[in-house]
Amino acid sequence: MPAFQPVPSSFGALKEQVVVLTGGANGIGLEIVRKLYQAGAHIVFGDIDEAACKTAVDQLKSETSSSSDISFLRTDVRKYDDNLALFKSAYEKYGRVDHALAIAGVTEQAGKNWFDPKLDLSSITAAPTTELIDINLTGVCYFARIAAVYLRQGNDGRAKDKSICLLGSVASFKEQGGLFVYQPAKHGVLGLVRSTRKFFDGVHGIRINTVCPSATKTRMATKGVEDAWESQGVKLNDPQAIADYVLTLTSIPKDSYVGTVTGLAVFVEANKGWEIEKDLDRCDASWLGEEMSRNAANIEAALASGTAWSD
Ligand SMILES: NC(=O)c1ccc[n+]([C@@H]2O[C@H](COP(=O)([O-])OP(=O)(O)OC[C@H]3O[C@@H](n4cnc5c(N)ncnc54)[C@H](O)[C@@H]3O)[C@@H](O)[C@H]2O)c1
Repeated sequence: MPAFQPVPSSFGALKEQVVVLTGGANGIGLEIVRKLYQAGAHIVFGDIDEAACKTAVDQLKSETSSSSDISFLRTDVRKYDDNLALFKSAYEKYGRVDHALAIAGVTEQAGKNWFDPKLDLSSITAAPTTELIDINLTGVCYFARIAAVYLRQGNDGRAKDKSICLLGSVASFKEQGGLFVYQPAKHGVLGLVRSTRKFFDGVHGIRINTVCPSATKTRMATKGVEDAWESQGVKLNDPQAIADYVLTLTSIPKDSYVGTVTGLAVFVEANKGWEIEKDLDRCDASWLGEEMSRNAANIEAALASGTAWSD
């Protein structure tokens, strides 16, 4: 797999760029906010944890002097109108939105196991919570839909670089037993990148990518997770490293190897990154067989940007 390196020297390109993101109050999102702030971007971030949003802004302002303008809005990504309000707030303030990052997410919670072995004919009658799908997938789809409209405002003919980055996971593409609902939701995040990348690039001039980290040192990775990884000799990612990959995909529009930096999925383990989509395409014929691979490629080419499904 081709290694994908973070390029911190490109972050300066984000100076005065307007960036909207979710999940900026803690963990990986907070590190992204910190690096955007240091780069001088104008940031409007949303998070359900309003107290942590306020602490983050106060802390950033006290620890770093920056030309960055930063504000937050209490946002529940499950609500379409909250996502809308976030973009509207940035657009009304700056007259444009340049980059949109969907970072908010939650993992499986104790006591909410959809496939609890204790379920029986009586307890199965109560519907389970759908919050993992609502936050990790529906909220991300809402965010991308609204982002596509706000990012393309005033951007006829790709006059400016505009991009979306979604936080996926190793669970977006590798089996992770036990992440019963998180895994299908995160598969959906990679699915959203695959289903929109040609369309967004060709029709709107918007790039879309995903970063897919293995376990990362935030409150999401429990002690049990950390022990499981380290017992296999694999270190957890640092949230700062994940932020570097997100900012790299956001700040570099073109690369000599991949061309336009769009449709990529960057897997990160122990802070090292690899792009997984291009090599997957290259292995297609050995995976699916020559004939099926050729048929799939021809059909995909015939579908072009994909509007045939909805015309
Ligand atoms: N930590 C890991 O091991 C790991 C690994 C792979 C992917 N990820 C992904 O990285 C992203 C960030 O997670 P993290 O590890 O920083 O966890 P975190 O818990 O530190 O941060 C998640 C943020 O999302 C916010 N959030 C949760 N529900 C929300 C909602 N309904 N509306 C708005 N905001 C909400 C939280 O308040 C928090 O600020 C997530 O998408 C997660 O799935 C994390």
